[in-house]
Amino acid sequence: MLLITCPYGLSSILNNDIKKLWHKSFDTFDTWTFVDGWLAQATHINLSSRIANKVYLRTHEPSLCTNFDDLFDLTTSIDRSQYISKGHGVSIKVHLRQSIIDSASSSQSIIHKAIMTSLTWSKEATWDIDPDLKAQSLFVVINKNVCTIYINTSGDSLHNRWYKDATGDAPLKENLAAALIQLANRKYSEPLIDPCCGSWTLCIEAAMLAKNVAPGLDRYFAFEQFPCFDKPSFEVLREKAESSIYSKPYPIFWYDIDPEMIEIAKKNAKNAGVEEAITFEAHDILDTEPSYPNNATIVSNPPYWIRLPWDSLDKIHEEFAQKISKKTVIITGYPGAKKYFPYLARSNKNTKNGSEEVKIYLSK
Ligand SMILES: C[S@@+](CC[C@H](N)C(=O)[O-])C[C@H]1O[C@@H](n2cnc3c(N)ncnc32)[C@H](O)[C@@H]1O
Repeated sequence: MLLITCPYGLSSILNNDIKKLWHKSFDTFDTWTFVDGWLAQATHINLSSRIANKVYLRTHEPSLCTNFDDLFDLTTSIDRSQYISKGHGVSIKVHLRQSIIDSASSSQSIIHKAIMTSLTWSKEATWDIDPDLKAQSLFVVINKNVCTIYINTSGDSLHNRWYKDATGDAPLKENLAAALIQLANRKYSEPLIDPCCGSWTLCIEAAMLAKNVAPGLDRYFAFEQFPCFDKPSFEVLREKAESSIYSKPYPIFWYDIDPEMIEIAKKNAKNAGVEEAITFEAHDILDTEPSYPNNATIVSNPPYWIRLPWDSLDKIHEEFAQKISKKTVIITGYPGAKKYFPYLARSNKNTKNGSEEVKIYLSK
């Protein structure tokens, strides 16, 4: 059993993403989606999901835990030798809901003690933690007194692709950008435009989707350190993903008022292997008459942060509203945006970019 997390508000897009990878989700609760599978399915989803944050693997059958003795016994019963190699530390996060055990910090201590005790029983008492190795992390859920322990197979959140060397102000998280591109639901042969592109997160994710570049192709995953990791099978999966990249160019156009973003953004696109798919121009959305092709789709994250004067934010959002005859997906935290996209607000979605509340407006 796998538990896959995603940014708030995006679980339906995650479900589509998972279905495309031929896995079936069977339950979704807020930002959590449950999928039938074991490590082979987890490796596939880690490599290929554009929307997931983390993929957790359940380590045992869920079990009733109403006190710390139960929790200790359950933890020692896990076949730790499958997941934690010698030298790795273990970090523990506990999520409690409607349960008799009501202290996350005490639960963490008990679980940690149980893991160390099971190491002693397995005659590995000299378990020196190697500071060069990343700790493995457990996610423990006690819901209505039923405890499930998961191990994080991803490591760092999957929104961390490998391509970003630098960013501008307020960059979008990569999986949120990928979700916007998927919401736009465009034909890849039709032009895509971001008039306020910043460090190009949207355009790089759009080009990666169009070229079928797997988002996890060149990053590290926690499962690579599991003793049960099947490296040859993963290499086959990675090689298959590499050979499935299309070389066709796609019409993607990106503008920003700030020409300094070009160098940063070009480097990121080069790292992602998609620079030839993208055309960039420095351009002020307020100065120039728009000459976007009729069949263009606009996907953008206009400026909305507090330090810009509100009248200029108003003008920029108004300008977007005038372009709305085209298929458009806008993500913005600017409260005044509602005025310009009233008909979009009905189908809006609330989400977060990091800690910031933002709304997604769709023209369809
Ligand atoms: C929220 S950021 C976009 C971040 C981008 N999505 C990313 O992931 O890096 C907004 C961008 O709008 C640009 N911008 C601000 N005013 C503009 C204008 N009048 N015309 C075009 N771009 C503008 C800023 O330079 C900034 O890069």
